[in-house]
Amino acid sequence: MKFFVDTAEIDAIRELAATGLLDGVTTNPSLIAKSGRDFMEVTAEICKLVDGPVSAEVVALDHETMMKEAEVLRKIADNVCIKVPLTVDGLKTCKALASDGTMVNVTLCFSANQALLAAKAGASFISPFVGRHDDNGFDGMELIEDIRLIYDNYDFATEILVASVRHTTHVLQAAKIGADVMTAPPAVIHALFKHVLTDKGIEGFMADWAKTGQSIL
Ligand code: E4P
Repeated sequence: MKFFVDTAEIDAIRELAATGLLDGVTTNPSLIAKSGRDFMEVTAEICKLVDGPVSAEVVALDHETMMKEAEVLRKIADNVCIKVPLTVDGLKTCKALASDGTMVNVTLCFSANQALLAAKAGASFISPFVGRHDDNGFDGMELIEDIRLIYDNYDFATEILVASVRHTTHVLQAAKIGADVMTAPPAVIHALFKHVLTDKGIEGFMADWAKTGQSIL
């Protein structure tokens, strides 16, 4: 499963990219606002930090203006992935961009039927929001299972990008279902490395090693 980080904070992206485990980045208008940075400028910086797809979202609601915005955004770098909302105009834009060979991430997906439409529109990624689904009394992971089943039934190439990830259990469940990608805030990705028994084990080994009085270097 590929790991994307869901943030527009440059330092956090740089830190995760240094692990060699980061496959891409997702941003959205709220994350850009939170960063306080200029959209074009910060997106260009992010694209230089990671080789993989960097999602940059259009903000227009009509097809024509979405196409114009996409034109500006895709000039930022070759690894920009245009993010469009799951609406009629968003999917029209997806279809047009995809036919042109542009990577498209269809966002704000909350049903398997919506995911089916996005795949038919040639999306590179579909972003079902599991956390927001859970928040509203639905089962986000059941949605991922349904999309996996449908995409496998028809061999759709669209990658399932599990979004709105809130905790490490979401990541585990996504991997068990066979999602292609997950995007999570930096804190959730950092939490994946941690286990209390790993810390305790290191502490014990270090204490015993000190007793030997030896050194490797
Ligand atoms: C994905 O691309 C979105 O940016 C993101 O995962 C939304 O997450 P949220 O529900 O925590 O805002």
